[in-house]
Amino acid sequence: MADYEDFLYDKHAFADTHPDLLYTLGSLFGMQPAPIDKCRVLELGCGLGGNLIPLGELFPESEFVGVDLSVAQIAVGQAEVRALGLGNVHLHAMDILALTPQMGRFDYILCHGVYSWVPPAVQDRILAICRVHLAPQGIAYVSYNTLPGWHVRGLIRDVLRRHATATDPVERVAQARELAEFIHRFTPAERSHAAAWLKAELGVIGRLSDAYVLYEHLVEVNTPCYFKDFVTKAAQNGLQYVADAEFSSMSPARYGPEVAARIEGFARTLVESEQYLDYLTVRFFRRSLLCHHEVRLNRKLTADRLAGRVVTSRLKPSGDGVFRSSDGMVIDTQDPLIGAALQTLSGYPQGLRFEELCVRAAATLGRPPTRIDREELGGTLLELFATGGVLLGTWKPLWTPQISSRPKAARFSRHEAAHSEQTTNLRHQTISLDPLDRAIIRRLDGRSRQALYDAIVDDVVHGVFNVEREGERVTNPEWLAELVDQKLERIAAQGLLLVDEETDTSISKENIAYVLHRHDRDHRQKNQHADPVDEPLELAGHGAAGDGLDADEHQPAAVEAGERQQVEQPEVDAEDGHEGEEPG
Ligand SMILES: C[S@@+](CC[C@H](N)C(=O)[O-])C[C@H]1O[C@@H](n2cnc3c(N)ncnc32)[C@H](O)[C@@H]1O
Repeated sequence: MADYEDFLYDKHAFADTHPDLLYTLGSLFGMQPAPIDKCRVLELGCGLGGNLIPLGELFPESEFVGVDLSVAQIAVGQAEVRALGLGNVHLHAMDILALTPQMGRFDYILCHGVYSWVPPAVQDRILAICRVHLAPQGIAYVSYNTLPGWHVRGLIRDVLRRHATATDPVERVAQARELAEFIHRFTPAERSHAAAWLKAELGVIGRLSDAYVLYEHLVEVNTPCYFKDFVTKAAQNGLQYVADAEFSSMSPARYGPEVAARIEGFARTLVESEQYLDYLTVRFFRRSLLCHHEVRLNRKLTADRLAGRVVTSRLKPSGDGVFRSSDGMVIDTQDPLIGAALQTLSGYPQGLRFEELCVRAAATLGRPPTRIDREELGGTLLELFATGGVLLGTWKPLWTPQISSRPKAARFSRHEAAHSEQTTNLRHQTISLDPLDRAIIRRLDGRSRQALYDAIVDDVVHGVFNVEREGERVTNPEWLAELVDQKLERIAAQGLLLVDEETDTSISKENIAYVLHRHDRDHRQKNQHADPVDEPLELAGHGAAGDGLDADEHQPAAVEAGERQQVEQPEVDAEDGHEGEEPG
């Protein structure tokens, strides 16, 4: 593992590991996960702590524990924890194999970009830790490379590993890039399908970081597995599959009614259905949520489960009742209420509570919402959630697209902007920054706009960085102020500005999830902290041969929906989002 000491991994936050997402998916399926503002989170292989540190600041009453084998990476994370004064984030340089029961139980266990990259003994231990250290209603997140997609990508890894043999990791990456560039440029793509595919795949390498190329393609261990085999292994450890963190990836309906019907013909269980989807989409990477085998999941999604949820739309209006997502999904609705709801959501990129959405959508039709409205809208939103048109959360969004007179970013965002070319936003995503972004974001501490303009002018005048317009260096304070305003618009849209509790009216102040949990909070508090695991939970009633699902859990997640809207399916893209590009 010496490489991670000498050549640090990239620092990232991963939106799909956010406890709010895990909470939402678990509770939609009938679980009672811990409220995320009062929970314990463990991250295995946490690297530089980039995934936990922002959560530590945003949820000060929760506790975040990260472990990683690399002393150098943990030291970087610990320095940031100290700089931000976070008493609730604890990063430990230690082997996953050395984790002891004294660490207690956790409500959420995250393991991103580790499982496929460690030897079998550590893989087994990761699942065993989830069993032993997960609270009874806890949720674990494990990501891994999957087959059959990685058979295809493994070809590139084989070729690059055979060529890039230098001992020095920097040199090894350079060798790999040189070969990738050569093949990408000269492979006879026009003469063979295989060469055309190779060219496309190698084109991706140029966009990946050195650390990614090294740890995905050049390290010794990278062992992908079939989804079904992963679920079987989880079952052997007393764990069952809850859902994919990318919920819409579970739905065959996303690929059209014929695909859905034919997969139903092949598959007897939810797990098999998803396995066939992996064959179909040549999937490279998965993010699986697991819980204890004993938990009874209710996969029948009904509109009442939307109570208190925050709905965010990925669909933008494009006229005449048509809404489109950036990845090609098209919804054509003539239903005035659904159209009004999608139109309303497009004005609230940070999301709206379901109840508030019903009120606002019905208001545009000149009336209050009826029970039937709520059911119809709820059913349609669940369908859209299953196919990727909308996202659901539960916790109050902490960011705002509005720019106040004293804009403020989180301390972690400011700290990262001051020290690196990337930062983390309030949606738990990593954002790349140019020098002007960095200069602005690190000063978003609630000072006035004028004070912000003055500081930027000062930087430019003193040559800290240059700003150019049409090839000319800009020093004029008015122009710079204009530029800062443009940048602020973008920074706001990127989810970097904190909600101003006093002035923001975009979402009800009451945190519904908080209210739901208020009553059992004290009880949990007593039990979840300082709860060393004396004995592992009993591994009862699940054989090695099964797939870990109860008989009645063998059906794909069902959405009980209102009238179905016309959904044009997006083109299937095997390179879905950052899937397969990020082990991490
Ligand atoms: C590919 S990196 C992923 C880091 C981070 N989770 C991410 O996704 O960005 C894999 C991490 O696992 C850590 N790791 C590997 N084997 C480990 C072990 N046995 N115990 C603890 N950490 C380990 C490495 O040090 C490294 O930081």
